[in-house]
Amino acid sequence: GETINFIEFKGRLYPNFSISSVEAIPNFKVREDDIFLIAYPKSGSHWLWEVCRMLVAGTVDVKVRPKQSMMLELASHEEIDQEPSPRVLNSHLRYDELPKDFKKFNNKIIYIRRNLKDIAVSFYNHTLKFYDYYQYKGEWKNYLKMVLDGKVDYNSWFDFVLHWEDVIATHQEFHILELTYEDMIECPHREFKKIAEFLEVPFDDKLLADAVHKCSFKSMKKRKGHFYVSPEGDSAVYRKGEVGDWKNWFTVAQNEWFDQIYDEKMAASKLMFKYSK
Ligand code: A3P
Repeated sequence: GETINFIEFKGRLYPNFSISSVEAIPNFKVREDDIFLIAYPKSGSHWLWEVCRMLVAGTVDVKVRPKQSMMLELASHEEIDQEPSPRVLNSHLRYDELPKDFKKFNNKIIYIRRNLKDIAVSFYNHTLKFYDYYQYKGEWKNYLKMVLDGKVDYNSWFDFVLHWEDVIATHQEFHILELTYEDMIECPHREFKKIAEFLEVPFDDKLLADAVHKCSFKSMKKRKGHFYVSPEGDSAVYRKGEVGDWKNWFTVAQNEWFDQIYDEKMAASKLMFKYSK
């Protein structure tokens, strides 16, 4: 019904997966050239991971595999240890939760954000579709409240984005590229070029154009949609891939309620988000 099946560990809610990897994260063996992708859930990690590994490989012909195979909280660290460098790691963690060695190497970070209205809708559908993990069949209006209260896996979006905003502002030494899902939708070619330049990989217009094509929602759904499937047979990750789908879900009253809470929580923030195309 309305309750979500979570695991709680050190004050954070996780999906119901084995937390042996989570426990091992502080001692994860970081390499100097590891690339860290950071995001709150449903902000575009799958998309970002796919384009990054193509740019790193210098070709769009990369092996079809799930992003979760390189996710710090979920993948086996023994398996990540076997991967050739440079590795594109991904995680929903906060700065203080990253591996200890991260501080030693000051690795490159790509941090992607997305507007919370679309995240709420995406997260709701994710939670329904990953039924095996969450055992959840609740209603949208109740889920939206849980998102605003931070009672979802990885806790509050507000805490996450405010935390990283503060950490970035106070760590001038970081090698970090900040992106948004909405900018990637608006012009993937422009954003992919930023990524290639930031990663200092060789690239040309053809590689960027090929990556835009192969990382399109349609192409990724076709190649990778089978990895996680709901009991009804839908892809749990590749749903719509748009900006502004929240308008099909929020009532006028829910939108006003959201905006009021948002304005309170984000009063001190300089972050700006786009809510429509
Ligand atoms: P929707 O549920 O709004 O469709 P994450 O990768 O962080 O889990 O985020 C998943 C969201 O990104 C989903 O949003 C999914 O459809 C969207 N997405 C995945 N691949 C995409 C792509 N290639 N282009 C655009 N959106 C993509």
